[in-house]
Amino acid sequence: MKAVICTKYGAPEVLKVVEVAKPTPKDNEVCIKIYAAGVTASDIFIRSSNVPFRLLIPMRIMVGITRPRQPILGLVLAGTVETVGKDIRRFKPGDSVYGLAGFKFGAYAEYVCLKETDSTAGSIALMPNNISFEEATVAAYGGMLAFQFLVEANIRKGDKTLIYGASGTSGTLAVQIAKHLGAEVTGVCSTANLEMVKNLGADYVMDYTKQDTLPEGMKYDFVLDAVGKIKTSKLKEACKNALTPGGKYLTVDDGALKLESERLNKIKEYIEAGYIRPVLDKCYPMDRIVEAHRYVEKGHKKGGVAITVTKSN
Ligand SMILES: NC(=O)c1ccc[n+]([C@@H]2O[C@H](COP(=O)([O-])OP(=O)(O)OC[C@H]3O[C@@H](n4cnc5c(N)ncnc54)[C@H](OP(=O)(O)O)[C@@H]3O)[C@@H](O)[C@H]2O)c1
Repeated sequence: MKAVICTKYGAPEVLKVVEVAKPTPKDNEVCIKIYAAGVTASDIFIRSSNVPFRLLIPMRIMVGITRPRQPILGLVLAGTVETVGKDIRRFKPGDSVYGLAGFKFGAYAEYVCLKETDSTAGSIALMPNNISFEEATVAAYGGMLAFQFLVEANIRKGDKTLIYGASGTSGTLAVQIAKHLGAEVTGVCSTANLEMVKNLGADYVMDYTKQDTLPEGMKYDFVLDAVGKIKTSKLKEACKNALTPGGKYLTVDDGALKLESERLNKIKEYIEAGYIRPVLDKCYPMDRIVEAHRYVEKGHKKGGVAITVTKSN
């Protein structure tokens, strides 16, 4: 099968498309034919190993000391179940599934074998029936991040909520989920994305490239930093202190992403009901993975980016 391998940390050019052996599922695994894989901020951190110093050692221990232990990268996938091991109960051949491969990686390939039970080595669920495989990768990564932190904040109807980084993969979904839960949503992004964030349902938008402070006395019940700690601005620093008594500030870097298929089921339910829709910015064929990484690395994608591994009809 075709796969993208990464045999050393470095620039996007370290990624190579090669032929490797197709995996065979164990008794407790499903073999998934991958149609699309997400190209995420996490993939960029892993491939480049360009992370803040405090994270470098833990990341290398988890991913590989001198090079990625698992050379086929890719955390997020959508595809169809091709074969199942004898102990599999939740899935059958032909099911369309989406999810995260976790520390097993391997989504940048035509096939991957994953367990049906949730663990740090992956979490999969049936895919929403009204979106493409590429969109499903955006829903899986951005949706899992957005849901985890919105659930933790326990936002309620009418809560004043600010999503910092409202135009990224998790931000675009966080805006829509918060709106659906009845919050009053303010989205922060750059000038080019203000209109898109408004169209996603934000009640108010702010431009962090033009505005350094919040309006006098403005307070929020919940502020979510949806871009991570290393991306900041004067406005973001101001948001951290603009909380109502009992208000909460969370960043998507607070704690590890929980790989829970229950949450993927919830995202599916929301998408099929039309409450939320993943925003797909660009899509590249697998052969153009280097270009896809270069684009994502610029840090200004609108929603998510995917590679098409196998063309669907
Ligand atoms: N906790 C965990 O286990 C875990 C797991 C995975 C990821 N994460 C975190 O989640 C983050 C990824 O989120 P994501 O993929 O949803 O983000 P993303 O799509 O990579 O974010 C891209 C967006 O960031 C915005 N942006 C760039 N610089 C900014 C700045 N200084 N201020 C405000 N916005 C800025 C851009 O908007 P404009 O173009 O409008 O500027 C762009 O739309 C990662 O970077 C990582 O920190 C955490």
